[in-house]
Amino acid sequence: MKKPLLDQYRYFLKDSVRLTIDFSRTDQSRRIPAPPIEKPFLPDSKCVDLIKNKKFQKINDINLKYAIENRKSHRHFKSEPLTIEDLSFLLWATQGIRKTVDAGTAYRTVPSAGCRHALETYLCILNVSGLEPGIYRYLPVEHQLIFVYSDPYLSENIVDAALGQPFPGKAPVTFIWTAIPYRMEWRYDIAAHKVILLDAGHVCQNLYLAVESIGAGTCAIAAYHQDMMDQLLQVDGEEEFAIYLAPVGKI
Ligand SMILES: Cc1cc2nc3c(=O)[nH]c(=O)nc-3n(C[C@H](O)[C@H](O)[C@H](O)COP(=O)(O)O)c2cc1C
Repeated sequence: MKKPLLDQYRYFLKDSVRLTIDFSRTDQSRRIPAPPIEKPFLPDSKCVDLIKNKKFQKINDINLKYAIENRKSHRHFKSEPLTIEDLSFLLWATQGIRKTVDAGTAYRTVPSAGCRHALETYLCILNVSGLEPGIYRYLPVEHQLIFVYSDPYLSENIVDAALGQPFPGKAPVTFIWTAIPYRMEWRYDIAAHKVILLDAGHVCQNLYLAVESIGAGTCAIAAYHQDMMDQLLQVDGEEEFAIYLAPVGKI
């Protein structure tokens, strides 16, 4: 590979870019209002209530050391469905809000650079008890799922979008995280992009550990077809686009 190209891409891994930014000129410094902490939705959207974390009944209180020891990637799942409680727990563990500060800031169960939380969580649901298969989006503020659409070819479409990797097409649910970069750029300008990806790592690691409590497994996926995945989620690919996914199923 050509060295200049490698150097250019390695630059992204460094924090040298920070020294090039005039932080007095960021949108935050110019007092442009903070973008919303979750992507807005239409008031008449079809929403599904999730179970709140204090009300979980069937989530095992497993030992953290056990969860860390057992964590590994799983690409084969039982045909058993996940329950709404399983899903509620996994969504809470990966993006749940633990404290709201104001309209522009809320702390979650995962860390985020500057608490900007530039990620949205979509679910490709194929087999969850009580839920119609389809694409859904998590609403962390409401702790609800919003139904986006259904498609009889969802299983085939997610496999195609995952470059032919078969396990998302068989998993009861696949978590797909998008980035809304402006949420982070508002504060950090071009230093936003590296930290968005660091944030995603925390989210997926919480998923890896949380699935241990429900007898399930997951496997991170970063190899996918960008345009196909964005189309699957019906996002514009500019202001919001897929960055990472993880199918989940009982093992
Ligand atoms: C950022 C990232 C991207 C990955 N992408 C894929 C992928 O596209 N397909 C896949 O089968 N596994 C993928 N994996 C899973 C790795 O292959 C797996 O973590 C690695 O082999 C180590 O195995 P372990 O997770 O069981 O320890 C990815 C893991 C990470 C952290």
